[in-house]
Amino acid sequence: MALWAGRFSKEEDETVNAFNSSIAFDARMYRQDIRGSIAHAVMLGECGIIEQEESEAIVTGLAGILEDLDTGKLKLDPNAEDIHMFVEAELTNRLGDTGKRLHTARSRNDQVALDIRLYLRDAFQDIQKLILTLIKTICETAQQHTETIMPGYTHLQRAQPITFAHHILTYAQMLKRDYSRIDDAIDRMNECPLGSGALAGTTYPIDRNRTAELLHFRKPVENSLDGVSDRDFCIELCNALAILMMHLSRFSEEIILWCSWEFKFIELDDAYATGSSIMPQKKNPDVTELIRGKTGRIYGDLMTLLSMMKGTPLAYNKDMQEDKEAIFDAIDNTKLCLKTFIPMLKTMQVYKENMRHAAAKGFINATDCADYLVRKGMPFRDAYKLTGTLVAECIQKNLTLETLPLEEYQNMSPLFTEDIYQAINLETCLKERKSYGASSPEAVRIQIEHLLNDLQKLEQS
Ligand code: ARG
Repeated sequence: MALWAGRFSKEEDETVNAFNSSIAFDARMYRQDIRGSIAHAVMLGECGIIEQEESEAIVTGLAGILEDLDTGKLKLDPNAEDIHMFVEAELTNRLGDTGKRLHTARSRNDQVALDIRLYLRDAFQDIQKLILTLIKTICETAQQHTETIMPGYTHLQRAQPITFAHHILTYAQMLKRDYSRIDDAIDRMNECPLGSGALAGTTYPIDRNRTAELLHFRKPVENSLDGVSDRDFCIELCNALAILMMHLSRFSEEIILWCSWEFKFIELDDAYATGSSIMPQKKNPDVTELIRGKTGRIYGDLMTLLSMMKGTPLAYNKDMQEDKEAIFDAIDNTKLCLKTFIPMLKTMQVYKENMRHAAAKGFINATDCADYLVRKGMPFRDAYKLTGTLVAECIQKNLTLETLPLEEYQNMSPLFTEDIYQAINLETCLKERKSYGASSPEAVRIQIEHLLNDLQKLEQS
């Protein structure tokens, strides 16, 4: 029989019952639900709203339920409407009337608003740890490749020489921002909704500061309606995941390109690639493709949350029960992606020679040729134009800037002397790009050092 049977003259329709139920997906918050209820019961006892002994009995009873759920001794009832009802009913089974006092001065509306916050706080700690591991993995790979020349691209056209280290460190920087975006959202979420009641607070003399403190929140939410009716924190955190996945997806896309025969810059370890059911020669980058695919799914979760909230009047509406599946899906899948991506990156083989080979074609030292003329006194625009003509000549003669004879250079400008070959040598081009944050091995080593320092601070925080 439903909890609210007193008000109703009929049993709930079975289909409606199943439709309404959220236990299939909110059961994963049982630890947080019990933690919240324990804090509530402690506060009720301290404020004299229930007897001290009752408060203690409830706390012990809840701890017992937690243990029995953890060990599997207690099974969830799939017919319960949600995890909150299940825990309360089980407590009443165990304690009788005392169990029925737990829900004094509380509603499922503030209870669920609390549970999701607690759950997200825990879950995002795991995600942040994975982000740090990935940043570290990138740094470790980068340390081995500060001299590994590859073409840098714009418009996927060879542009200027960079190193493999410099390229992949870009993702470490993005991930550092992803990490701090999560920090920001968690910080804003750090207010306790418990005590908001159904929407209007309560007539009981509760102590909201005490429950906030017991549950390690900075303070209680200021407005009781706000406490139960917003899910902006879910949206912010899902947004942080969507951006993180966008970064991971771009990295994945590059890996997909790099392991193709057209590039062959890298090779995935056999453990992180798959074969084809028909083509015996195939080695496919399924992991990275799936990450690219799942990114769309996380965007979908974000859209679900945004759309769910846009038309709901204050305060709580049942629409908001849909928040959980969306944010849980985003968390689960992002975690899966990170967990697979990290070892895949770690075990990936880098083909330096192929990168170097690709860098030697495509005139990626043309800017350096123009800069050479600038150093000899020519205005940059003239130098740029003249070099363009040289490139066109090389293409026509099937030569590169390295193999174009000195006479041809000198035909174009008397400023060219033998040292042009040294100036356009790829190693020189790279070494000279030593401005802050640039590609030279020296600048990249500084970047790695800064990243590792930041990592250490974040790991200790
Ligand atoms: N299962 C519900 C949810 O997730 C709990 C809150 C129910 N509140 C209510 N007034 N029906 O949103």
